[in-house]
Amino acid sequence: MKDSNFLKEHNARSLWHPMAHPADSLANPPTIVTGASGVRIRDIDGHEVVDGVGGLWNVNLGYSCAPVKQAISRQLDQLPYYSIFRGTSNDAVIELGEELRGFFAPDGMGRAFFTSGGSDSVETALRLARQYHKIRGQEGRSKYLSLKKGYHGTHTGGASVNGNANFRTQYEPLLPGCFHIPAPYTYRNPFNETDPERLAALCLQALEDEIAFQGAGTIAAFIMEPVLGAGGVIPPHESFMPGVREICTRNGILLIADEVITAFGRTGSWTGARHWGVQPDMMCTAKAITNGYFPFGAVMLSEAIAETFEKDTSGKAAIGHGYTYSGHPVGAAAALACLAETLRLKVNENAAARGAEMMAGLQVLKDRFEVIGDVRGGHGLMNALELVADRDSKAAIDKATIARVQEVAYQSGAMVRVSGNNIILSPPLVLTGEDVQVILSALEAGLGAASA
Ligand SMILES: Cc1ncc(COP(=O)(O)O)c(C=O)c1O
Repeated sequence: MKDSNFLKEHNARSLWHPMAHPADSLANPPTIVTGASGVRIRDIDGHEVVDGVGGLWNVNLGYSCAPVKQAISRQLDQLPYYSIFRGTSNDAVIELGEELRGFFAPDGMGRAFFTSGGSDSVETALRLARQYHKIRGQEGRSKYLSLKKGYHGTHTGGASVNGNANFRTQYEPLLPGCFHIPAPYTYRNPFNETDPERLAALCLQALEDEIAFQGAGTIAAFIMEPVLGAGGVIPPHESFMPGVREICTRNGILLIADEVITAFGRTGSWTGARHWGVQPDMMCTAKAITNGYFPFGAVMLSEAIAETFEKDTSGKAAIGHGYTYSGHPVGAAAALACLAETLRLKVNENAAARGAEMMAGLQVLKDRFEVIGDVRGGHGLMNALELVADRDSKAAIDKATIARVQEVAYQSGAMVRVSGNNIILSPPLVLTGEDVQVILSALEAGLGAASA
């Protein structure tokens, strides 16, 4: 590896960073991370901090998960790649299919379709939803509904159901036939409703209204995150997802749970849908499925969907979709080891306990710092602080101030993530109580510096 002077000098010069302006990456060179262990990352200058971002919502078991590393290494020696397109399979992916079927059985899922990541999983689910209706003779069902503020990756289908203009505007026109309803976001919503239960009812009413307007027979699926994550950690009232389920069922619309960040324990439950007592028709997973150590994902399909495809005699159920890396044996081996370790460590329980501590600490910070407009979370280890220039008007904070919070928090011991007006926390699920306190005190330092 080149020395640190070379790396710093060339930082961002010959590559573009996702989700960043290239000029900004040149003006403000990214932190160069060179090592990690446990829940801590280390930069090129040797500065070590608790990773409040958990990689990118994916390193749930931390950076030192030996079973996953060993599984990857063993699989690379045994079979580093072979495709599972028609006619071939591999041992690791067969075993993984069985394990996932068991893990997701309480969600009503019975089959897996493997992908290379979250955006692929979303794209796969959207496409299979249309195909499902075609097999059943309902060719007219092609539209998709979703939530404003939702994040579903950046493929064109996913961006089309995304509910945030930042991921859409420069790439329009997107897929036709995608419509959005208001998110159950109590801090800002078009109904000016702050009561979570009443807001959930209003959003459900908006969903009913949109279905009536579009015509139920034109809609293939509704896609939602059980707790909206990248859009600013927006947990809905407990009545919301069950309400969506009921409306979708009554209208013959498939419900796709985008569980790319919520599957495998982050909410304190094993899946986000299970957290709300809902069985969706499909679940998109990725990220923590391999602890982030290998790019991999899976779309889980309900038994009813599986039966429709498997019993088809028309030929329409032939799947004209898949990725070179679908069912990659190294990813499958990583996922097998990761699932075993996730279950052994019962990370969902730790996520719930540490998440409660985090939420309580963030509420205390809100009492101290005017710049915090809203604290969100309360469901496992996913939290956001929404910063405002003024609490009464809720005017957006300026970029420099929120960047300062992040920078000082980093210097004070924790990496946190800035997304728009929000500071988002999605740490590894193996975090200890002391690690929670490190993140909170780093944030306190950051907020103090920005408020000075
Ligand atoms: C809910 C959700 N869906 C989809 C994606 C896209 O996943 P990927 O970045 O692996 O393509 C993400 C990524 O953060 C996500 O949070």
